Amino acid sequence: MDKVKVGFIGCGGIAQFHFGHMEKIENARVVATCDRIEERANKAADRFKAKPYTSYKEMFEREQLDAVYVCVEPSAHDGMEMMAIERGINLFVQKPMSLDLAYAKDVRDAIADKGLVSAVGFQCRYVDTLPRVKAWLDGQEIGMAVCTRLGGLPMVWWWRRHEHSGGQVVEQSIHNYDILRYLLGEVDAVHGMARRGTIRDIENYNTDDASAVTMHFKSGVVATLMSGCFSPGPFGHSSFDFYTREGVMNYGLGGTFKIRQANVTVEGKPGNDYGQESDDTFIDAVQDKDPSLVLSPYADAFKSLELTLAINESMAQGGKLIELP
Ligand SMILES: NC(=O)c1ccc[n+]([C@@H]2O[C@H](COP(=O)([O-])OP(=O)(O)OC[C@H]3O[C@@H](n4cnc5c(N)ncnc54)[C@H](O)[C@@H]3O)[C@@H](O)[C@H]2O)c1
Repeated sequence: MDKVKVGFIGCGGIAQFHFGHMEKIENARVVATCDRIEERANKAADRFKAKPYTSYKEMFEREQLDAVYVCVEPSAHDGMEMMAIERGINLFVQKPMSLDLAYAKDVRDAIADKGLVSAVGFQCRYVDTLPRVKAWLDGQEIGMAVCTRLGGLPMVWWWRRHEHSGGQVVEQSIHNYDILRYLLGEVDAVHGMARRGTIRDIENYNTDDASAVTMHFKSGVVATLMSGCFSPGPFGHSSFDFYTREGVMNYGLGGTFKIRQANVTVEGKPGNDYGQESDDTFIDAVQDKDPSLVLSPYADAFKSLELTLAINESMAQGGKLIELP
């Protein structure tokens, strides 16, 4: 394959992030852009001298794509992945890949059947301090993890509607749950409680303001993750505290860490553009036809989606304990 021919479905906020990376990737060319909003498709097409579409069906019929980026809102995954897979097109899908777990399962299985390259937008897996942090944790007897994510409300129309975004746990804190899975392995039981009522000034808002979630991992580790979307101010943060028999580690989602043990303190900061690296890796994997290069393939990301949807179910049932497969 000469240059990887890329199409985009959805040319909103996160697509701009990928567009910036695409301009720097020499072995890729954006040849088609699709958005329901014609103006967005046209503007993106102008940027790359690509062909604009308002229907992804038409885009698939007319273009010979090697890869497609799916960057639509969580409730809008209405079959585009399956259509791409049928045509042998490799897939980069933004998280959360759907709000319908059965659909995500079909996509996961179809990708495996066709042996395609897939990736999900968990760019935090590409932070360059993460392997070091994982290596330290792998050598420790971990007791527990205490995690928080505090931030504001993204101003896209769909975020405030639970049926469109899935709420903060599924749409946003899924990054934190995904990193927890990466570092600690799989969760086998979870329950969560939600809080509403602090956000009163956003019209048409019907989702949770905060969540308190307790997890039990297959390894025996217990963890909590508290998330809130009611604080757009300067106090926002996203952090993990791991307590082990020999020390304590604080890790920030962006890659800053501090490890404290009896006689030593080690600190580190990330040094890479991990969003760029996530896209570079996907394109290289498509060109080399090597799905194993990707750190967040669809099949793995599916488990993060499954976990966050289970938390939603638990919260909807007032904190019911949910067991995961
Ligand atoms: N990885 C990250 O850090 C990160 C950050 C932000 C957003 N996201 C995810 O990216 C996705 C999109 O978020 P966004 O902020 O870009 O939203 P957005 O509303 O800015 O953009 C979504 C675009 O998709 C288009 N669209 C919807 N259905 C379509 C269809 N059938 N055909 C063509 N176009 C369609 C919409 O018209 C819109 O322009 C969400 O799932 C979100 O969670 C990920």
